[in-house]
Amino acid sequence: MTGLWGVEGVGAEWEEIFARVPRAEFLPDLMWPFDERSGGYSVVNRAEDPVEWERQAGRNAAMVTQWDDGRHEGREPGEVPTSSGSKPSLVVRMLQELDVRPGHRVLDVGVGTGWTTALLSARVGAANVVGVEIDPEVAEAARGRLRRAGFGTPVVTGDGGWAAGAPYDRVQVTFAVRRVPGAWVEQTRVGGVLLVPWDTGFTDVQALVRLTVEEDGLARGAFVGTVGFMMSRPQRGGVPVHREYFPSDVEWPDDTVESVTEVRHDELLDDPYGTAAFVVGLRVPEVVHSATAEGEGMRVVYFYSLRCRSWAVVFFQEEGRQRVLQGGKRRVWDEVEGAFRWWMERGRPEVGRFGLTVRVDGGREVWFRGCGG
Ligand SMILES: C[S@@+](CC[C@H](N)C(=O)[O-])C[C@H]1O[C@@H](n2cnc3c(N)ncnc32)[C@H](O)[C@@H]1O
Repeated sequence: MTGLWGVEGVGAEWEEIFARVPRAEFLPDLMWPFDERSGGYSVVNRAEDPVEWERQAGRNAAMVTQWDDGRHEGREPGEVPTSSGSKPSLVVRMLQELDVRPGHRVLDVGVGTGWTTALLSARVGAANVVGVEIDPEVAEAARGRLRRAGFGTPVVTGDGGWAAGAPYDRVQVTFAVRRVPGAWVEQTRVGGVLLVPWDTGFTDVQALVRLTVEEDGLARGAFVGTVGFMMSRPQRGGVPVHREYFPSDVEWPDDTVESVTEVRHDELLDDPYGTAAFVVGLRVPEVVHSATAEGEGMRVVYFYSLRCRSWAVVFFQEEGRQRVLQGGKRRVWDEVEGAFRWWMERGRPEVGRFGLTVRVDGGREVWFRGCGG
């Protein structure tokens, strides 16, 4: 692996800091490494196998350190990963994007293991960094590790900003949101930067948005690449109850209308970069889709509007026209297909051509930079 955790073009100042603040000092004895090939998790316990633990700590992979908001016990993986040590190459990429300079004041939201808070503290001084972590036990463990590593960085237990330490020049967030809390924007000085993983709710693919606070108090900026983070704890949800949309097992609802589409499953929901589904999610708010049921060359995908009980079902086959059913006031599939075709007609623009404008009240607008912009 060349570069810093495989990332090229990182300044010497960060190379020195990563050498001085080793990741292993911030990882717990029991952790669950993520395996990108299998998409699953293994378990490693330092007390049982210190050599394997060291090997895993040195891998460029995310390490889950808490499941199910801490309710999970034992060594088997739990259901939902709720705290982790981020993948090191992602940590490096984010620090590059954040462009932290000596003298900056930094808010690091989603402290987790404390490693990113320590790296930032090494760059600008612990007195200039405030960490925010929603889970009291995770926060307490991070405080201990930061102290032992020689940083007295304050870690606040909470889920927003921290006014007493404001204004900040940089805000880094290491979980995904569908709404930017107003406090982050309010507490950032004009010209300051927020780096936030954005989740549309439509797909697992998220994108990092780099927002700059402007004179008018709005935060504006473009997406800078796709990422995968756990959701902000208070913003999870949006899981539809199938029965509320489809009360009968044997009949479609009375207002069902039928049509066909030529959109294929792989180009909409399975494209290698996930850009199609991310863009559809940006343009069609509050729509989610179910995991696909597969059978005999067909994938059945349910789309649910979270605003009302409108829905669509598409029977995707490998070839030919796909059967579509829709019901409710909102024509969910028409919106999804419209957004997908809009993206295709513009030559499948990558996420960097899109951006957000965020207001202090949490309102936001999605924008697209055409060829001229
Ligand atoms: C991916 S982990 C953090 C990674 C961390 N920076 C590291 O590398 O160790 C995300 C953390 O954000 C915390 N979190 C989730 N939602 C939060 C919220 N709304 N406010 C503050 N912390 C939150 C979780 O408890 C978890 O510890």
